[in-house]
Amino acid sequence: MEKIKNMTPQQIVNELDKYIIGQNEAKRNVAIALRNRWRRMNVTGEMKNEIIPNNILMIGATGVGKTEIARRLANLSDAPFTKVEASKFTEVGYVGRDVESMVRDLVEQSVNLVKTQKKEEVKIKAEKSVNNIILDVLIPPINKIQSNINLSLEKKSPNEDKEINEKTREKFKTKIENGELDDRKIDIVVQKPNNSGIGMIGGGMMDESSMINLQDMIGNMMPKRNKKRKVTIGEAKKILLESEMSKLIDMDEVKDEAIQRAENTGIIFIDEIDKISGGSKKGSGPDVSREGVQRDLLPIVEGTSVTTKYGVMKTDHVLFIAAGAFHLSKPSDLIPELQGRFPIRVELDNLTQDDFLKILNEPKNSLTKQYTALIKSENVEIIFNEDALKEISEKAFIINSEIENIGARRLHTVMSKLLNEILFDIPEKIGPNAKIIITKNMVEEKLNAITQNKDLSEYIL
Ligand SMILES: Nc1ncnc2c1ncn2[C@@H]1O[C@H](COP(=O)(O)OP(=O)(O)OP(=O)(O)O)[C@@H](O)[C@H]1O
Ligand SMILES: [Mg+2]
Repeated sequence: MEKIKNMTPQQIVNELDKYIIGQNEAKRNVAIALRNRWRRMNVTGEMKNEIIPNNILMIGATGVGKTEIARRLANLSDAPFTKVEASKFTEVGYVGRDVESMVRDLVEQSVNLVKTQKKEEVKIKAEKSVNNIILDVLIPPINKIQSNINLSLEKKSPNEDKEINEKTREKFKTKIENGELDDRKIDIVVQKPNNSGIGMIGGGMMDESSMINLQDMIGNMMPKRNKKRKVTIGEAKKILLESEMSKLIDMDEVKDEAIQRAENTGIIFIDEIDKISGGSKKGSGPDVSREGVQRDLLPIVEGTSVTTKYGVMKTDHVLFIAAGAFHLSKPSDLIPELQGRFPIRVELDNLTQDDFLKILNEPKNSLTKQYTALIKSENVEIIFNEDALKEISEKAFIINSEIENIGARRLHTVMSKLLNEILFDIPEKIGPNAKIIITKNMVEEKLNAITQNKDLSEYIL
């Protein structure tokens, strides 16, 4: 919640702008929805429970940024977020994933989030005890009781031994902390959870949730095996840190907080929702089951309780964002009850040639930046001339309109075709410290032969 807490709708849009070109309507609406979650959390009294999220339906052709917006939103918000594909679900009672599993996913996500956060809080404490464990392995402390017995048997002063031991330990402690000994090998004991080989108990007799619970239960019942491993101190630090951190966090607290966060700030993104709409009104075959999935979705979107292995989760305040291309069907082909549960409709625009040029260049993770980084790892520099990029976006646009419109994904195919040879020739033919300049001519040369031959481009691009 921390991050969103301070983000205004404008700031959320600004953040999305770093990755997604255009689609301002969609960005604005998700930003408002996100901020409204926070606003609701600050409402007091009964009204807080009355305010329900305005679920969003994003409609737009393939490759225009629907899923991309969802992905960026997920990174942006500290809220539990899960993205599912509607086409993966089957109606309750049939073999396959039932729709409730999306809620379980969300809780799982939330648990991870809370766990990571709690672990961070105990990290320093855990690091200390890790260093102590390692120190005990390297220079075991002199046992007090034993030194008392020695006192009566030996002449040598036990205090002296103890002092030397403590001094050495002190010295090694600093060395461990500084990482000076990270390459040395030691034996550590690690716990291995024993849940292998259990697989699918119950077969088709059980629903998914009880199966997960059962697997979990059996996993917990099985004895945990201790295993000795020889690792470097550096590795040991990492391995032990994980287990020490887990020991320090209270899992019951994590579960409660996770459920609560998922209920109040969770976002479920249902992609490809058009794939479960009927389309043709024949009402036979798979359509029946698709409509079944839609019916199963209704209570979840409206608010119901779902049993998860971390506890019962209410979905009343979860924000749902659905997206679909709706090529073959229309939003009105969804069953009316479901349509009504997504009151906010946003249409994403088709991308223009100009958008393509920006997409190539501007996003933080743009294709040109990706390729530049890839090639730089071989110490080769690549520069894309402005007019070359224009040419690429023009080509991509033309191919989209002539063959099939796959949106910005076309840029990926065009770029890979363009750079294929170069990527192969590094490092043998194009050695380190070389500089490659992609010019407009090169783009034409590489792509004209293909774009001018329609049959060829259908296969290659
Ligand atoms: N508006 C945009 N700005 C920047 N990049 C984009 C944009 N639209 C699409 N892309 C690029 O195209 C790729 C595909 O886009 P995305 O996955 O969002 O498509 P989609 O709208 O979900 O399509 P589909 O309906 O086929 O699922 C993204 O990975 C991204 O690189
Ligand atoms: Mg998509």
